[in-house]
Amino acid sequence: MHEQLREGFQAQMQAEFESAYLYLAMASYCAHQGWMGCAHWLRIQWQEELGHALKFFEFLLDRGVQPELRALQQPAHAFGTPLELFTKVLEHEQYITGRIHRLYRQAIELEDYPAQVFLQWFVDEQLEEESQARAIVEQLRQIGESPVGIYLLDRELARRKAEED
Ligand code: FEO
Repeated sequence: MHEQLREGFQAQMQAEFESAYLYLAMASYCAHQGWMGCAHWLRIQWQEELGHALKFFEFLLDRGVQPELRALQQPAHAFGTPLELFTKVLEHEQYITGRIHRLYRQAIELEDYPAQVFLQWFVDEQLEEESQARAIVEQLRQIGESPVGIYLLDRELARRKAEED
């Protein structure tokens, strides 16, 4: 594997672990606020991100590269209102999408075909993750300050099921 791409994959594995860590911190905050549905949704997101990190872990091993587990950035402790929190989720996913696209471009430039095929799954996944976060942000914008609206959305988020892949 080209050194440049190898480093990109190591860094992306770390970014996926950091995403997991961020969403678990958000789940902790929501549970403490009593928003149990939001906390549940974020815990599933946490598990998904761990799954993403492990995909990079396995891919590196398959390519004969030892995955390096690096220090993770400490997430915040407080995330504001549900709207502010889910806006941060959306912004974070947009940031991750940008990283995946850069990596994909690099894989094309370096003519690494297995990396391109591997990253294609992430290109699709990011589309879905952004779409889900955007839908929640949109609902929260419409709800505004209504406690009943937030209560109902929280109940809806409690129904999220873990995805199989
Ligand atoms: Fe692994 Fe939410 O991107």
